[in-house]
Amino acid sequence: MNQSLSSLAMQLMASPKGLLAADESDKTCSKRFDALKIISTKESRRQWRQLLCMSPNVGLYISGVILFDETIRQKTDSGQSFAEALIKQGILPGIKVDKGLVEMDNFAPQTITEGLDGLSERLQEYYQMGARFTKWRSAFTIGSDLPSPAVVRANLVVMARYASIVQSAKMVPIVEPELIYDGEHSIAESARATELVLKILFEELKALRVDLSGLILKTSMVLAGTETAISKPKEVAGLTLRVLHAAVPREVAGIVFLSGGQTSQQATKNLNAIGVAGSQPWPITYSYSRAVQDPVLKLWRGKNTNTKKAQIKFAQLLAQNSAARGGEFAE
Ligand code: 13P
Repeated sequence: MNQSLSSLAMQLMASPKGLLAADESDKTCSKRFDALKIISTKESRRQWRQLLCMSPNVGLYISGVILFDETIRQKTDSGQSFAEALIKQGILPGIKVDKGLVEMDNFAPQTITEGLDGLSERLQEYYQMGARFTKWRSAFTIGSDLPSPAVVRANLVVMARYASIVQSAKMVPIVEPELIYDGEHSIAESARATELVLKILFEELKALRVDLSGLILKTSMVLAGTETAISKPKEVAGLTLRVLHAAVPREVAGIVFLSGGQTSQQATKNLNAIGVAGSQPWPITYSYSRAVQDPVLKLWRGKNTNTKKAQIKFAQLLAQNSAARGGEFAE
């Protein structure tokens, strides 16, 4: 067991905090800005990330922020780097290191995640900049024959290799095999696909001797697809915990959830139902992007005059999710 990796992971999982995912690529961030007619430039994206990272009291709720390459190279208005500004608030800076999804040969439109080339060199640079944890995401669609076993295996072999390289660079890897919420699948199909993916992931991580006490799993909740009736929090919590117990070894340092396109309310209520179920073998918390950002972005709309009210909303959403991880969210 690598003590410093597991203590970093424990710091990230500290109660009652969660992680902020602010690692959207330029393209994804621009799509979200476009929908609200906010002009997307390097500078407007910097201002948006500054609004989030420098929000008053953010350190009470957030233990780590996952940044995108563009942001970790930028400075806040006061002239310090984003990484330095986060560290000053007791927040660990993290970095998304995969290079995104490409269609997998012979299996399109299913995808494989790229980014292993040059990874160790990039990690050295990020470490120097202050990053202490990383993220890598693969995405799987649920359907009658989906995801294809070969696509799952190919992605998770690469994901395990990523995790081992990151631990050698003295950083905590977050592994994120996302099961896509869009679709017509039932909640039972979501449970089946999530369990299959997680079991293969941990087979591959063990095969590469990854230290699970210095690793965090970022997973989807088990949900019926967006084209199906909305799953009730109790059912989501029950099935999600059943799958996690079946597939995730106890040694894993922690489990965090992505919001995946759920509304803010849904993501908080489902997390709360999981919290209500009580203590589990691993600490469990949130690592949301859209569920904590979308309502805030709608208030901000690219205008400095809206910053204050947007930050108040952000703090409120973080406080609600931090309460929810302990099953203490009250509407
Ligand atoms: P969402 O919470 O919007 O799903 O984003 C989390 C994330 O990190 C996706 O990679």
